[in-house]
Amino acid sequence: MKTLLSGPHVILGLKVAVIAVTLLLLASLIALARGKVRLHGRINIVFFVLTGLALFVFEVVIRFLNPDAFDYFNADPVLRNALNVHLCFSVPSALLLPFMLYTGLAHRRTAHLILAFIFGVLWFGTFVTGVFFLPHSAMP
Ligand code: HEM
Repeated sequence: MKTLLSGPHVILGLKVAVIAVTLLLLASLIALARGKVRLHGRINIVFFVLTGLALFVFEVVIRFLNPDAFDYFNADPVLRNALNVHLCFSVPSALLLPFMLYTGLAHRRTAHLILAFIFGVLWFGTFVTGVFFLPHSAMP
């Protein structure tokens, strides 16, 4: 189990998940651009549920199933720094998600659009720092 849930494997799984939900987010923005606001909302409900599920599974893995999966990050200052930078984007973007969903569903348009701008910047940072700067190959 621990080999299967090693740090690099977990990172690879997360990268696939982030790319998949980002495609959903892009689809929701295309729907919005075509005036299909309701479709934008439906797609983003799926985006919200899948992102939450991925985070939940990730937390279970690193807290309970393999708590030392990321020990090698703490041993390497360059890796640790890359992870810290990634967390600066990913943690706030995850915290914003419930507010995005609420303001969208409640039609609080101005609040939704202001949050959308901040969320967009944070999600872009999460994507770039996660997919391109966190290594998913096995460490020596
Ligand atoms: C990131 C860029 C996003 C932009 C620019 C954006 C923009 C918008 C706009 C303009 C509306 C119409 C608001 C109205 O007139 O009442 C809307 C609705 C909505 N948005 Fe977003 N949004 C974004 C992301 C999200 C995200 C991440 C979620 C959920 C996690 C979300 C959930 C919703 C929902 C549920 C609605 C209501 C749809 C309906 O009327 O059935 N949006 N969004």
